[in-house]
Amino acid sequence: MAWTPQSWRAKPIRQVPDYPDAARLNAVETQLRAYPPLVFAGEARTLTQSLAAVAEGKAFLLQGGDCAESFAEFSANNIRDTFCVFLSMATVLTFAADLPVVKIGRIAGQFAKPRSDDNETRDGKTLPSYRGDIINGEAFNEDERRPDPERMQRAYFQAAATASLVRAFATGGYADLSRARHWYLDDHHHEDLKERYFKLVDRIAEGVGFLRTFSLADAVAARTSKVDFYFSHEALLLPYEEALTRQDSITGDWYDTSAHMIWIGDRTRQPDGAHVEFCRGIKNPIGLKCGPSMSEDDLVKLAALLNPQNVPGRLTLIARFGADQVAEKLPKLVRAVKRAGANVVWSCDPMHGNTIKSAAGIKTRPFERIIKELRTFFEVHRAEGTRAGGVHLEMTGQNVTECTGGAQQIGDVNLADRYETRCDPRLNASQALELAFLLADNLSQWRARGAGLAQSA
Ligand code: PEP
Ligand code: CO
Repeated sequence: MAWTPQSWRAKPIRQVPDYPDAARLNAVETQLRAYPPLVFAGEARTLTQSLAAVAEGKAFLLQGGDCAESFAEFSANNIRDTFCVFLSMATVLTFAADLPVVKIGRIAGQFAKPRSDDNETRDGKTLPSYRGDIINGEAFNEDERRPDPERMQRAYFQAAATASLVRAFATGGYADLSRARHWYLDDHHHEDLKERYFKLVDRIAEGVGFLRTFSLADAVAARTSKVDFYFSHEALLLPYEEALTRQDSITGDWYDTSAHMIWIGDRTRQPDGAHVEFCRGIKNPIGLKCGPSMSEDDLVKLAALLNPQNVPGRLTLIARFGADQVAEKLPKLVRAVKRAGANVVWSCDPMHGNTIKSAAGIKTRPFERIIKELRTFFEVHRAEGTRAGGVHLEMTGQNVTECTGGAQQIGDVNLADRYETRCDPRLNASQALELAFLLADNLSQWRARGAGLAQSA
């Protein structure tokens, strides 16, 4: 069947809000269709090329950010801190692995959330579940929980402002490698980590300074004074994504200009469903979450549907099985993809399969389980002779207490101290940097061995 930006509307769809005011929804979609794109087709094409380098083992993918961005926590400082954590992690990974790191934020549009239940009941009262600030409000009352199309406009403008600041940080001097010490946040409260990070970046600064004193100064500055940074989110709310989908004037291809990369969530990846239908027709790089219920047949079918030309860099498979299931489930899928000859990037999301409830009933993720899944992911790829291409994380630049463990030894009893997430528990700034160092050890061994072969972290 021919694809159009609207063809998803004829397919079965999951995880859609029930907007009570269809006319209002229509009016908002019309407005969004006229608004400027948030990213450009050419940038999405460059990202596809960078991801093709990841598929070839010539680069590593770091994707991460909030589980859900929110209207309430929208501030310049939050954006800056997330960016700092990202840069410090990328620096650690780049220099340990001697590989370029492709940097993609879950930022500037990561608002819509799939939920296990359509409704939530508290004290005998039942209301629609909270689905992210782009759809409804978190407060448990009828007004807030009613899906409101106006929220799409607010999300659009917040995404635009966020993207504008991040672009300025990335290219306007803030991301210059000589400033790497400044990306370390005082909020880390972690002396060992600080020492290790400062030692690394001081060594880098020395090297960069040394090269800059030669006639290489211009060439070095071009490579160290700015970074390429991309935006991504889950393409869940299709009316919003459709409204921002535009035909590229240069190639005639369709691009979803709401982000450089979008991904399909584990709950909305039915091969005959609306989300797959929408994503198959746009040219952006696409992510596909693969959870424990993904079958080999479906994965091979989805890879062919989403990447019929088998373009390298177009499709990133994001494995999220959980520490207990990854060793059993991942190898079969890796083999099926290899047998089919599908060109993919394999990335590891060690967050979404490792969510548990603390004794007090708070959703958390133990740091050691996150590390265990990552380590197993590397081991599986080593055993299969395939490449562990990247990681997909939920993290923040704030000193929150949402995931247990890590060097700060956050325990169940500490979770309530600073539990601020809109949805899933995120790594705090220290846990994120600690994870980057663990990953870096793994990647440097991979480099030492030449191919996609890594020892355990
Ligand atoms: C997410 O990435 O926030 C998410 C909901 O993931 P998944 O679709 O893998 O559950
Ligand atoms: Co999440």
